[in-house]
Amino acid sequence: MTPAAPHPPFRIVCLGGDGIGPEVMREAIRALQALPVPIEIEERPFGGPGIRECGDPLPAATLTACREAHAVLLAAVGSPEYERAEIRPEQGLLRIRRGLGVFANLRPVRGDGVDVMIVRELSGGLYYGRKGRLTDGMAFDTCEYHPWQIERIAQRAFELAAGRRQAVTLVDKYGVLETSKLWREVVDEVAAGYPEVRLDAMLVDNAAMQLVRDPGSFDVLLTENTFGDILSDVAAVATGGVGLAPSASLSEDGPGIFEPIHGSAPDIAGLGVANPAAMLRSAALMLAYGLGRPDEAGLLDRAVDEALRSTPTRDLGGATTTAEFGDAVVALLSGAGA
Ligand code: NAD
Ligand code: IPM
Ligand code: MN
Repeated sequence: MTPAAPHPPFRIVCLGGDGIGPEVMREAIRALQALPVPIEIEERPFGGPGIRECGDPLPAATLTACREAHAVLLAAVGSPEYERAEIRPEQGLLRIRRGLGVFANLRPVRGDGVDVMIVRELSGGLYYGRKGRLTDGMAFDTCEYHPWQIERIAQRAFELAAGRRQAVTLVDKYGVLETSKLWREVVDEVAAGYPEVRLDAMLVDNAAMQLVRDPGSFDVLLTENTFGDILSDVAAVATGGVGLAPSASLSEDGPGIFEPIHGSAPDIAGLGVANPAAMLRSAALMLAYGLGRPDEAGLLDRAVDEALRSTPTRDLGGATTTAEFGDAVVALLSGAGA
């Protein structure tokens, strides 16, 4: 399901972005450099820095560099400075996702007795449907899906479930939304090709409640773009917070984007207290899914797990700074013979 593994040295484009983005990115780069993987890192302006340097949150040269890379590591964009501006950092995020053709956003959420894989569709729905303003002042955003968009993400979800606990929960708003009706039709067809995988469907409001009440009851949760955005934050909080939750955004065969699910956290930017675990785990997903290096991904994941136990950051009730957490991970990696 993932493209053939590229050959080293791996060329990675790192997009630090805004707020805590550059702070957590720095620790991911240090950890990658402590691993026995030949990696060439290129940092590029994106989000706020793209706007300030080139007048564009996704400068053309940044997109070209990403297309030519083996993988893209992205931290976070968004800043109160641009909240009401015409040109905003978040526009760069939507454009880079479209520009690289990524459509499968895998958001693993792990915790005590919890191992959920949220499979969020990333190329359609409200984010990319028709939108605008009418002369009477009304604004509209349209939730749009083609059957082929649903089919390709459902295939990914079933492939993943087949290698896990063999259960897919489709989350939608059936009975209200026409797109949900289409999702059920297409997903039922895809499910027929995976008789070993159990499929059930759940309404999104109930799914939000079940994720809080009993997140361990899910294996693979498959859903559309907006529901996946919201439910992944809900699931992350049920297992320790957004500072822990990574993601992989994969295309058919091009470079993936590996990005934490959290944003630029303007409330703590510059304080040096952000938890870099989600960013580090995103780097581990990049090693596993983007570069075909599952062993080093495992080393990094285990070092992060251990650092979370021994040196927790402020969001987890500890006092470890972002840089100290990075030091702990690098020390653990060195101790592990990496
Ligand atoms: P957020 O995820 O940035 O922050 C929500 C809360 O979680 C804040 O209290 C923040 O301090 C905390 N938090 C987030 N990451 C953390 C970390 N690594 N360690 C410790 N605490 C952490 O969401 P928001 O405040 O709604 O959004 C801020 C900006 O980020 C907005 O401009 C938004 O558009 C943008 N955003 C970007 C992305 C992305 O780049 N993928 C994702 C979500 C939001
Ligand atoms: C995420 C973010 C983005 C999204 C925003 C910043 C556009 O919330 O990656 O979860 O909604 O996809
Ligand atoms: Mn989000």
